[in-house]
Amino acid sequence: MRALILAGGYATRLRPLSCTRPKALFPVAGKPMLEWLLDGLSAQGVEAAILAVNYLEDRIKLRFGSRHGDMRIKYSKEPHPLGTAGPIRYARALLEGHGPFLVMNGDIMNELSVADMLEFHMGRGAAATIALHEVEDASRFGAVELGDGMRIRRFVEKPKPGQEPSRLINAGMYILEPEILDMIPDGRKVSLEREIFPRLAEEGRLFGYRYGGLWLDIGKFDDYIRANRVYLERVSGNPKRYRLRALAPPAGVTVEPPAFISDEAKVGAGARVGPYSSISEGSVLAERAQVRGSILFEGVEVGEGAIIEDSIIGEGCRIGKGARIGPGCVLGDMVQVRDGLTVSNRAVVCHFKEIEADVAGPINVF
Ligand code: GTP
Repeated sequence: MRALILAGGYATRLRPLSCTRPKALFPVAGKPMLEWLLDGLSAQGVEAAILAVNYLEDRIKLRFGSRHGDMRIKYSKEPHPLGTAGPIRYARALLEGHGPFLVMNGDIMNELSVADMLEFHMGRGAAATIALHEVEDASRFGAVELGDGMRIRRFVEKPKPGQEPSRLINAGMYILEPEILDMIPDGRKVSLEREIFPRLAEEGRLFGYRYGGLWLDIGKFDDYIRANRVYLERVSGNPKRYRLRALAPPAGVTVEPPAFISDEAKVGAGARVGPYSSISEGSVLAERAQVRGSILFEGVEVGEGAIIEDSIIGEGCRIGKGARIGPGCVLGDMVQVRDGLTVSNRAVVCHFKEIEADVAGPINVF
């Protein structure tokens, strides 16, 4: 079976960090988000993953190349963003001739059993099967009304609060028959959720497969932090199982689990890391630095005695001695914070900015 992963969005809600990297490469507990998905698919014997890319696609190609384990990786680069259905049509030549295929949003952390969902799809003779996940508030998503035998009667994208047909939502994972390719208009932006699914539901050819496993949709920073916490709980204490190269904490360093420190990071004596922190490769924590509830991207330098709390720190940032960052702050790549300064209360700082005085949010600093 082949899988197409949508990984070409601009991720506007994750700016400024998504200005310099695609969302697919945001690290979650030490590994890019997309790598977790590829691990899952290749472990289940998916033959080829087609990455539908656009924005900053070179970075994705550089990271993943043409193979992931036994799974081949192919790229389908749209001339301009084509939405959620347009990329499927655009990748037609790579999808046709291989039977039904899987489509997955590249920003949903999941543990879908592809074989189980395929068996369901084939058993119903569906044209399309949507994985459905139950949530408290369906109004942010596409919600469905089910008929007999898990046939979807109605598909409503982002229903008004109080008008949700159910709490079962589109989990962003589908199995589609090749005939769906003919339903998607060519050459323009097309939404699966608004143009294709409602029509298939009307025709009685759309089915819902209940998926009750891990499901984390990463749209905003809060979602991203939550996903990182959930994954840290799984990998902490057993990084080998997840093929992560973690640093054994050097003497004099306190690590409070769950936490992840790349084996290509350095942590000085008296430093404290965690709980719920992940430190990417190339980052350096000086003596007595403290990092709690935070995500450090690659190559961050944290000065002596500096404290970072509940924040996200972009690649190559330099945090001065005794500086304090957090809570709820986001620093874009290469931001410099001078010694002793404080960046606090949900301040968001654009990449390359040099912070020369205390900043108290909520504020965006350009
Ligand atoms: P926001 O701009 O913050 O809404 O984020 P986003 O661009 O990621 O959009 P959204 O969260 O709705 O996207 C869901 C998934 O579809 C993500 O994996 C995106 O990368 C992907 N996606 C969104 N639009 C496109 C597109 O035009 N082309 C491709 N190939 N993928 C897309």
